Amino acid sequence: MDLCNIPRELNTNDLYLRPSTLADAEGMFAMLSDPQSMKYWSNQPISNIDDALIILKEDLESDAQGNSMCWSLIPNGQDSMIGKCILFQFSQQNRRAEIGFILNHNYWRQGLMQQALEAIIEFAFKTLKLHRIEADVDMENAASLGLLEKLGFQREGLFRDRWYVYGEWQHSVMLGLLNSE
Ligand SMILES: CC(C)(COP(=O)(O)OP(=O)(O)OC[C@H]1O[C@@H](n2cnc3c(N)ncnc32)[C@H](O)[C@@H]1OP(=O)(O)O)[C@@H](O)C(=O)NCCC(=O)NCCS
Repeated sequence: MDLCNIPRELNTNDLYLRPSTLADAEGMFAMLSDPQSMKYWSNQPISNIDDALIILKEDLESDAQGNSMCWSLIPNGQDSMIGKCILFQFSQQNRRAEIGFILNHNYWRQGLMQQALEAIIEFAFKTLKLHRIEADVDMENAASLGLLEKLGFQREGLFRDRWYVYGEWQHSVMLGLLNSE
């Protein structure tokens, strides 16, 4: 399947999800420079808008090569992005991908990421016809674990010392959701 040419704009009750663009740099910077949002990310917070542009360029290049799909989350009635979701690590043969997500912390606990992930999961299973979606979450990341489990993901294993961030090794919980579930 050629991932580059599949339309992937999505709408939920409160959000518009569209492919990321370089115009998202300010929203991306606000989100990725915030230590609270980045506490369990696999990289440290960024410190300037150029870093946000570099990340966006990498995301766009990866999307253009068909290796990932990045979405920016735009609240209805606003212009700027407040969150990012990504499907990556695609395996065409095994019809699986990994999911990642992050939301500006000013918007937490309003049900927004749940809406976004529900839309992306439906798109992944129905349009992309994936068989399985995976997630790799820091063991201490209660919000992400709670969200994924609410969406039906099951814990499938613990990978010890998987990420070295903030000078410490972090354990990952690996989760999976099958199309049939
Ligand atoms: C994880 C994250 C995206 C959740 O976004 P959110 O929009 O606040 O989540 P929602 O409001 O949609 O919550 C939906 C469900 O997730 C779970 N949840 C969300 N935040 C939680 C928290 N702090 N503790 C426990 N469960 C939580 C709950 O089950 C919640 O349902 P409920 O409100 O009915 O209890 C947000 O906390 C975030 O951006 N964290 C930092 C980035 C990150 O860790 N990304 C994941 C890397 S793998």
